[in-house]
Amino acid sequence: MRLLVIGSGAREHALVARLSADPSVTSILCAPGNPGISALCEVVQIDPANPDAILSLAERERIDLTVIGPELPLSVGVADRFAAAGRRLLGPHAAAARLESSKAFAKAFMARHGVPTAPFTTCEDPGEALACVRAGTFGLPVVIKADGLAAGKGVVIASDLAEAEAAIDDALTNRRFGSAGARIVIEKCLIGPEVSFFVLSDGTRAIPLGTAQDHKRIFDDDRGPNTGGMGAFAPSPLVDAAMSERIMSDIVDTVIGGMAAEGYPFRGFLYVGLMLTPSGPQVIEFNVRLGDPEAQVILPLVDEPLAPLLAAAAAGDLRQSTCALSHDRLVGVVLASRGYPESSESGQPIAGIADAERAGVVVYHAATATENGRLVTAGGRVLTVVARAPSYAEAIGRAYAGVSLVSFDGAHYRTDIGRKAMSES
Ligand code: AMP
Ligand code: GLY
Repeated sequence: MRLLVIGSGAREHALVARLSADPSVTSILCAPGNPGISALCEVVQIDPANPDAILSLAERERIDLTVIGPELPLSVGVADRFAAAGRRLLGPHAAAARLESSKAFAKAFMARHGVPTAPFTTCEDPGEALACVRAGTFGLPVVIKADGLAAGKGVVIASDLAEAEAAIDDALTNRRFGSAGARIVIEKCLIGPEVSFFVLSDGTRAIPLGTAQDHKRIFDDDRGPNTGGMGAFAPSPLVDAAMSERIMSDIVDTVIGGMAAEGYPFRGFLYVGLMLTPSGPQVIEFNVRLGDPEAQVILPLVDEPLAPLLAAAAAGDLRQSTCALSHDRLVGVVLASRGYPESSESGQPIAGIADAERAGVVVYHAATATENGRLVTAGGRVLTVVARAPSYAEAIGRAYAGVSLVSFDGAHYRTDIGRKAMSES
């Protein structure tokens, strides 16, 4: 099987690493890739937002299966383009990708199908939105979300009325998120630990691919602004077999069945962001792809060849209801550049990756580049350092031993990744 992987982050590095271990894979091409990925396979420059360019690359290279990493190509219709040309791709059509690209769509869909989620309303008019929060419809704190894709910055958890009013003005009046914030969702704030639940679906069936917990805030103990994710561990000790079955039957099967019934069968990776509330799991968000850094800790735990599973899902023909998952624990720590998440430095030389790998971790590249033959930083989240062990404690120790060997000027990271896995176990 000849594979094409689209994307350039540590998630795609982990996908390529995992897929290149499969016996059925004869070659992998990655576009646009990064320097870490180019050590594993050929990389080609491409604009991931251009479905025609991705399709011509797949045709030219006689690719059997194209796997999409990030949401952007899916939201602009790369799966629709491939389907029209009769070429196989894993990822939902644009209409199904609205589960991520429109929070208003996702919430209305959940309401239509009785999927447990926070009570909400959708507004385009600032006056109506302000009246809603002033009336205390959802209490305080209240959550205000831009409808569209806002790079993880479109959600405000307002603890008082002034903050809620400012978030509404920012999105609807000042258009801080452009057209992505022309509509907002206002919803009740849910309380509980957050877990990420991953499935692979072929449009009518889904199989669990594992669970993880992300660390979204920049600083230890979940302080400071939100980021794309500063580290993750897998699996989540909060999701045992009974909870997993409950999530599959109450949420995943309802979503997959509902999407198919409405004419948008969902084919691809579905990432269900859940809050485990006292009254049961509730959906916070959907992503129509694997998470980053979650992919780096869940993919190595899939204990059977991955490429045949992805090919079966893309063909609408998943014949198994589960896949083998290892009982090991994985911990991944993100090393970020000075200034992240507000800004980020680039061009700092990176040292020590080979030493860290010799010490037993895997280092996935995200924002790296090669400059005059040297590896340098090229953005906010630079690397994910991942360790695997039979226990969380050992995986944490090994991950941070690896982190201590990698360096670049301005590098910073959280020192508590995985700690909550131990208290939750
Ligand atoms: P989202 O982009 O929808 O995942 O939101 C980003 C983060 O905001 C989530 O990971 C949660 O930590 C938090 N969040 C979103 N919605 C809610 C909610 N209804 N209640 C509490 N926290 C929320
Ligand atoms: N780590 C969260 C995400 O990939 O959206």
